[in-house]
Amino acid sequence: MIKNEIIKLIKDKRARVGVIGLGYVGLPLATEFARNGFKVTGFEVDQRKAETINAGETYIGDVASGLVKESVDAGRLRATTDFDHLKDCDAIIICVPTPLRKTKEPDVSFILSASEEIKKRLRRGQLVILESTTYPGTTDEVLLPIFQETGLQLDTDFLLAFSPERVDPGNAEFQTHNIPKVVGGVTADSTEAAATLYSQVVKDVHSVSSARVAETAKLLENTFRAVNIGMANEMARLCYALNIDTWEVIRAAATKPFGFMPFYPGPGIGGHCIPLDPQYLSWKARQHGFDSRFIGLAEEVNSRMPEHVVQLVSDGLNDDRKSMNGARVLVLGVAYKRDIDDVRESPALSIIDRLRSKGCEVRYHDPFVPQVSFDDAHTEGGGQPLSSVDLTDEEIQGADCLIIVTDHTQIDYQHIVSLAPLIVDTRNALNGDVRRGSRARIIRL
Ligand SMILES: NC(=O)c1ccc[n+]([C@@H]2O[C@H](COP(=O)([O-])OP(=O)(O)OC[C@H]3O[C@@H](n4cnc5c(N)ncnc54)[C@H](O)[C@@H]3O)[C@@H](O)[C@H]2O)c1
Repeated sequence: MIKNEIIKLIKDKRARVGVIGLGYVGLPLATEFARNGFKVTGFEVDQRKAETINAGETYIGDVASGLVKESVDAGRLRATTDFDHLKDCDAIIICVPTPLRKTKEPDVSFILSASEEIKKRLRRGQLVILESTTYPGTTDEVLLPIFQETGLQLDTDFLLAFSPERVDPGNAEFQTHNIPKVVGGVTADSTEAAATLYSQVVKDVHSVSSARVAETAKLLENTFRAVNIGMANEMARLCYALNIDTWEVIRAAATKPFGFMPFYPGPGIGGHCIPLDPQYLSWKARQHGFDSRFIGLAEEVNSRMPEHVVQLVSDGLNDDRKSMNGARVLVLGVAYKRDIDDVRESPALSIIDRLRSKGCEVRYHDPFVPQVSFDDAHTEGGGQPLSSVDLTDEEIQGADCLIIVTDHTQIDYQHIVSLAPLIVDTRNALNGDVRRGSRARIIRL
C-alpha cells in the first residue's frame, strides 16, 4: 500500500513538500514545514514572488523575513516557477486563489491549472492535498478524474485529500502552527497520510470521513461569520434609525456568559474569504435545487453597508450645511481589516467610489497600503488610482469629513478627534475615552 510508504517518508521528515501558490496561505504553510525540518519547494506563477523568497525576503506581513532567510540559507526552502520540480515532491499542497466570476459563480480555474501541472508529472508515491477554499465535491468530482487520466490509481499509486486553510492574516495569537487543522481524504488512506503530514507542523489535526465534509466545514465556518456579521450590520442600521448606540447594546448583550457571541458591525465585509466563500456553498446548493436564503440575505445586508456609510457622511455634512458635491473627505484605512495590507474586496473601495460619484474630493491615509486602484467593478466615481497621503494636521483639519473605515492600531485617534471637524466612525475606533473632550462631531455606525 502506498499509504505506508508515504507515511514513513513523512515521519522520517524525508518527504519533500511542494506548495503551489505562495500567497497569504501558501507562504506561511511552506515556511512552517521548512521550520520543522522538511525540504520545501514553493511553486509560483509570479516570478517576482519566487525571486523575493529565494533572496531570503518576504512579502507577507505574518511571515518574518528572518524565517524565510534562515530556511532558504539552510536549503530547506526555495521557490520556483518551473513546475517540473513537482515530480521531486512527495506531498503537494495546492494553495491557489478561488475567486468568483462576475456572475458570482465559483472560478476554480486556478485549481484546474495547478492540477494540470501536477497531472503532467504525477508519479507513484505522491500525496496531493487541496487547501484552496472551494465548493463541496471539488476534490473528488474535479481533481480525482484529472489525476486518474494518467492511468495511476488512487490508494495504489497516489493519495488525495482536502484540508481547509484557516489562516487569519494579522492575527499574532493564532498562526499556522496553533490553528487546528481539519483533514478529509477522498479515501481513508488519503485521510491518514494527510493527517500525518499536518501533524508534523500543526498541534491539533481533526480528521473527518471525506473530502466533502472538510470542504463543507470550511464553508460553514465562513458562512457563520458572514451571516452573523450581517445580523450585526442590520442591528447597526436599526439602532441608527432608533437613535440607540449599537456598540453599547452589543457590549451589554456580550455580558451574558452563555448563548451569545458578539459580532460587530462595520463598513462592509472584505478580503478573499467572507464575501466569497458563502457564494461557493450557495452555488453548489443551487445545483441541487436548494436555495440557501441565509446566505443571500447576509450578502444583501453586508453589501449595502458602504451605501449606509456614505449616507452617514451625507447626513453629517448636511448638519454642517455642506453638500457632498465638493466636500473634501479623508478616508482613514483602506485595507479590509486592521493592521494588514490586503485591499481585496475592501469596502473602502466601494465607499471611495460612491463618494467620488457624488462629487466628493476623496483622499486616503493607510500606513499599510501606499496605493489603491479600482477595477471595473468600482468605476462609478471615475476609477482614478489614489495614493496614501501623510496624516498631517493640515490634512486632518482640511477635511470636511473624516471616515474611519479601517481601525489600524498605529493611528493616534486621540490626536485626530482633537483636530477633525466631523468624523464618521465605522469601527468604534473612537471609544469612550477617546471621544471625551473631542472637538470633532462624531457619527458612529
Ligand atoms: N487569505 C486568507 O486569509 C485565507 C484564509 C483561508 C483560506 N484562504 C483560501 O486559500 C486560497 C489561497 O488564498 P490566498 O489568500 O493565499 O491567495 P493569494 O492570492 O494571496 O495567493 C495565491 C498565490 O497563488 C499564485 N498562483 C496563482 N495561480 C497559480 C498557479 N497555477 N500555480 C502556482 N501559483 C499560482 C498567485 O501568484 C499567488 O501568489 C484561496 O482559496 C482562499 O480562499 C485564504
